[in-house]
Amino acid sequence: MKKFVAASAPGKVILTGEHFVVHGSYAVAAAINKRVKVSVSPSEDGESWINSRGIRSRVDSIDEEFPAARTIARRIIQEFGEKTDAFEMLIESEIPAGSGLGSSSAVSVACTAALSKYFGAKLDDKEIFELSMEGERKVHGNPSGIDVQASLMGGIILFSRKTGAKSISLGKSIEIIVIFSGKKRSTSRLVAAVARRKERYPHFFQQLTDSASFQSLELVDALKVADFSRLGALFNIAQAELDWIGVSTDYIDELIERVSGLETLGAKITGAGGGGSIIAIPKPEASRSLLESALEHHEYSFITSFPQEGLRWEK
Ligand code: MEV
Repeated sequence: MKKFVAASAPGKVILTGEHFVVHGSYAVAAAINKRVKVSVSPSEDGESWINSRGIRSRVDSIDEEFPAARTIARRIIQEFGEKTDAFEMLIESEIPAGSGLGSSSAVSVACTAALSKYFGAKLDDKEIFELSMEGERKVHGNPSGIDVQASLMGGIILFSRKTGAKSISLGKSIEIIVIFSGKKRSTSRLVAAVARRKERYPHFFQQLTDSASFQSLELVDALKVADFSRLGALFNIAQAELDWIGVSTDYIDELIERVSGLETLGAKITGAGGGGSIIAIPKPEASRSLLESALEHHEYSFITSFPQEGLRWEK
C-alpha cells in the first residue's frame, strides 16, 4: 500500500509582457502567496478519483470538470501506473479559477509533482514542466509556459519561449497589491482574440512585442534596485498597451482609475485580462491603508510580497 503524498505550488502574477510573450517577447512573472495543494492517497475502491470543491469525479470519466488534473492523471497512469495504484486525489486551492492568478498552472504543477511521486517516478524540473504543460494546454490552448515556470520555480522570473526562464534576485523584498475584479474569463479566448488583432495590424503588433521585451528587461533592472517609481511607470505603460490589444474592459479601466486615485504609483491588468485581476504598486509605506480601501469593494484582494516559494512538498 502506497503512502500519502502531498505537494503545493503557488499562483502567479505577470508583471509585464503578458500576451506579447505568446508571440515571442520577454515577460516577467512572480509567484504569489496563494497556493494550490494536491494530496494523493490510496483509493479504497480500486478506482482513481479527483476531489475538489466538494465534487468527486473518476479520473477515467468523460466529465468536463478538472481538465488539467484529469489530463495529467491519465498521462501519469499511462506512463507509470498499474490498476493496483488507484488513488484518491484532493485539490485544495486558495486561488479563484478564471482570476488570471495562475490557478490552472498551480494545479498542474502540484498535481504532476504529487502524482508522479505517488507512482514512484523521479521527475526532474524539466519533466515536471513538460507534463504540467500538457494540463495547461488542455485549459489554455496555446500557453507560452510562463505561468507554469513561475509556479514551479517560485520567486521572480524573466521568461521567453526561446530562452526559457531565468530567476531574478531582488535588491530587497517588494510588496504589491492584487485585486480580483470578480469577473471570470477564459485565457484561451483572450489569447485567440489577441492573435486576430495581430493578423489585422502585424507591423505595429510586432513593434509592441519588441517593446514588451525592452520593458521586461527594464523592469528587471528596476526590481533589482527596488525602484518603485520606475516599476509604477512600467505598469502604466503596459496597461495602455494591453488596452490597445483589446484585453482591458470598461470595468477594469474603472477599477484601475479608482486604484490610481489611491496611494499607488502604477496599476495594470495581470495575466490574460478581459476581467480577471489587476496589480498595483503602492507608494512606499502606503500598502495597508490602500488594501483596506480596495477591500471595501473587492472580497478577493490581498497584498503579496516577493519572492515566494515555488513547488514544495507538504505533510
Ligand atoms: C496568462 O497568464 C499569460 C498569457 O500571456 C498567456 C500565456 O503566456 O500563456 C496571456
